[in-house]
Amino acid sequence: MKAVIFDLDGVITDTAEYHYQAWKAIAEELNIPFTREFNENLKGVSRIDSLKLLLGQANPPADYSEAEMNELADRKNKLYVELIGSITPADLLPGIDRFLSELREAGIKTGIASASKNAPAVLRSLGASGRFDTVVDVTKLKNNKPDPEIFLTAAASLGVEPGACIGIEDAVSGIDAIKAAGMFAVAIGSGSQFPKADVVLPGTAGLNYRELAQRFAEARR
Ligand code: BG6
Ligand code: MG
Repeated sequence: MKAVIFDLDGVITDTAEYHYQAWKAIAEELNIPFTREFNENLKGVSRIDSLKLLLGQANPPADYSEAEMNELADRKNKLYVELIGSITPADLLPGIDRFLSELREAGIKTGIASASKNAPAVLRSLGASGRFDTVVDVTKLKNNKPDPEIFLTAAASLGVEPGACIGIEDAVSGIDAIKAAGMFAVAIGSGSQFPKADVVLPGTAGLNYRELAQRFAEARR
């Protein structure tokens, strides 16, 4: 195990909740039912694809022009940017600060593989930009999660082969991307949601370098 590549939203900080709230506001305005359960499908999914999934829930079905869709996506992002405006270093999820220190001490490389164009701003607000060896620039990628491109890009920029990487995700599309990249996958959430993950933890407080290194070694045996 030479590198750990993290998703951001819902893994490093609870911005998954802010994405949910911003989409919920848009859905209410459009009179489209929107539940937390449905929101699980949007995790890890790009802004415009999330909007398309949301609009697909309209009953009766409705057609939206590209201009209307861009306007809705922009508005969702404005709501989201307002919500992340209050983020401070205290908003790192439980255990993350300690886990990053353990990795640094053990000489393990770290990266961020987030689908969010807001990732650099969120990392700055958390005071965490300098704690990762690479942050993938999502605007330069061709394929979205569950395609492995974002995780493979992170591994390449760290100079580590994918087989020596652990990926950590809170989204099904993200776990699929990690496995497609040939990496060891750690899911944050409930077990039944992530049949493909190598390890499932109920929360980030359970992230522990020594334990994960051991599970990784066992799986590679
Ligand atoms: C992912 C989130 O990290 O980023 C998704 O899980 C979000 O919910 C996606 O849609 C894109 O984020 P942004 O900030 O570019 O709209
Ligand atoms: Mg996420």
